Amino acid sequence: MNTRLDQTAVVSGQATAAEPAWRALVDAARAPYRAAGHFAWHFARGKLTLDPVFHYLFASGQIAPGAKVVDIGCGQGLLASLILACARRGAVWPAGWAEAPVGASVTGIDLMPRDVQRARAALGDAAQFICADMRQAELPPCDVVVILDVLHYVDHAAQDDLLLRVRAALGQRAAERPGPGKLLLRVGDQHATLGFAISQWVDRVVTRVRGHRAAPTHGRPLSAWTEHLRELGFDVTPRPMSAGTPFANVLLVASLPASASASASASASTPVPILIPATGAEA
Ligand SMILES: C[S@@+](CC[C@H](N)C(=O)[O-])C[C@H]1O[C@@H](n2cnc3c(N)ncnc32)[C@H](O)[C@@H]1O
Repeated sequence: MNTRLDQTAVVSGQATAAEPAWRALVDAARAPYRAAGHFAWHFARGKLTLDPVFHYLFASGQIAPGAKVVDIGCGQGLLASLILACARRGAVWPAGWAEAPVGASVTGIDLMPRDVQRARAALGDAAQFICADMRQAELPPCDVVVILDVLHYVDHAAQDDLLLRVRAALGQRAAERPGPGKLLLRVGDQHATLGFAISQWVDRVVTRVRGHRAAPTHGRPLSAWTEHLRELGFDVTPRPMSAGTPFANVLLVASLPASASASASASASTPVPILIPATGAEA
């Protein structure tokens, strides 16, 4: 396939439904969810098509080939499925896109047993899925940490602690294989009051419909997010990432320079691993 990427779409993260290459990739990423049930199959198509973040991540090459990726709050593993689909479609990768993340490996972590079961049913051993609370889960050394729409489920102290452990995990990987680490963090901007309120409301409804306990939400203004990440040593580029939705979401592309990685690795705290058995804690 020779489709060239619409550069406007890359910059804004807007998924153009008419773009054949993207549609084909979404279809390839959705296909494994046939094995995970009706809900998982339809949810995969809707989320991958309507949420601009996935298109942006792949078209702009945010995940390098061969990267070790940890997806915190991975849900049913859609990011992992896209990455695996990229590998399968390597030969027909669109000419205008950044390099495909072929050979990247994914560890997904999610609190909800049912989501983890869906991820495992769809993708089997092609990616690793751990059912655990991100507040205690062990983070393996990695090149890229992805956290999309998840941090607001835990309070600010837990967010801060997790970000410290993310920095340590990136630093540990840099000690093994020198290079910068990357955090791809999507958050709601609490200052954008209407968009933030809408996303909180939708989040609560979806959470209830899916049988999860409705969690309180803990947001921050965009400026507070970026300032905090910079204090941790990240270079941060915020990108609006709600095109086509009423939300006020922002993707923070946060790079950890190799020098900061080294000190992060040295100051790594000892994480406490917990594995929650995949039983019916969820309706
Ligand atoms: C809005 S969904 C986002 C899913 C996925 N990141 C995506 O963008 O498609 C939030 C996810 O975070 C998970 N989550 C919430 N609290 C968590 C926690 N304490 N530890 C791990 N996962 C958590 C939920 O189970 C849910 O799958």
